[in-house]
Amino acid sequence: MLAKEEIINWLKCEDEAELAKLYDRADKIRKENVGDEVHLRGLIEISNYCARLCAYCGIRAENKVTRYRMSKEEIVESALMAKKFGYGTVVLQAGEDYHFTADYIADIIKEIKVQTGMAITLSLGEKSYKELKQWKEAGANRYLIRFETSNPELFKKIHPPLKEGMVCDRFEVLKSLRELGYEVGSGALIGIPGQSYDDLANDILKFKEIDLDMIGVGPFIPHPDTPLGKNPEYRTDGEQVPSNVDMAFKVVALTRIMCPKANIPSTTAVSTLGGAKGRAGGLAKGGNVIMPNMTPVKYRKLYEIYPSKAGSLHDAQKSHDDVIETLTSIGRFPSTGLGNSKNYESRK
Ligand code: 5AD
Repeated sequence: MLAKEEIINWLKCEDEAELAKLYDRADKIRKENVGDEVHLRGLIEISNYCARLCAYCGIRAENKVTRYRMSKEEIVESALMAKKFGYGTVVLQAGEDYHFTADYIADIIKEIKVQTGMAITLSLGEKSYKELKQWKEAGANRYLIRFETSNPELFKKIHPPLKEGMVCDRFEVLKSLRELGYEVGSGALIGIPGQSYDDLANDILKFKEIDLDMIGVGPFIPHPDTPLGKNPEYRTDGEQVPSNVDMAFKVVALTRIMCPKANIPSTTAVSTLGGAKGRAGGLAKGGNVIMPNMTPVKYRKLYEIYPSKAGSLHDAQKSHDDVIETLTSIGRFPSTGLGNSKNYESRK
């Protein structure tokens, strides 16, 4: 374990020889705790409708992007594709789309379960306890909702409430998910304008404190049609966290050291900035999960949460082949099971 001061020192460290030691340590811990297998999760971006106005995100409600919602048949077909590739999980992700009723989502969960037997992860935003409960009972296993930043002031700035006076407490959602028996996933953005090293160290400590089962982190990538893309307010006191691949690598490594048994992806944002090398780097520095995109090609470029998102022009086969090539190049291999979090299993 690392104390906060140590975490901050590592985040600020630029000595390559020292960093190599950090990465070695993280890689060893990864190997001892979760092994060499890499869990592949088929990501299906089921709708880009979103009621929210997140200051960082390209599909925020006000943006004039072509909106889509996948049909139930399209979603199930994409899940079958993931099954065909041998994946243990599908992740259904969307903006906060209030057109999808809880019953409709529950139906899709049941259908995918019956047809594939895969683990089902949801990533559908801030939902009520009642909905989360219904989906768990329908067969959902896991839920992802990043808290983005543990600094409440910064969070309020980048994630305005839906209505005046409404409180958005993602930690509350995470608590509900835990209570309902989900495998709980969260994470943070790295290099948000205004984010300090102290903030980011607190995020990493928070991962540990709330004992997350899955932790996704990625560099903030400015989108030109968003408030944070147009008018970023970077800190000028020397404490601004940069948003680049190297910083993301440090955070992945520190997260692995702090949360040895968690499932940690090498994320799409890292691949977007760092290409195949970035993806492989995330796996070499503590990561044990990749989320190949299974969304039909015609929808992919519309799910533009940030520009030039890796894989936006590819089909599922190409996304799969690229991932396998990355794994082969570093001597790792896809897992065969459902890829449950060892952290979740050890808690039970
Ligand atoms: N840059 C990087 N990551 C982003 N996300 C949303 N917008 C951006 C961006 N501009 C991340 C958020 C969200 C996840 C689905 O995508 O962390 O939780």
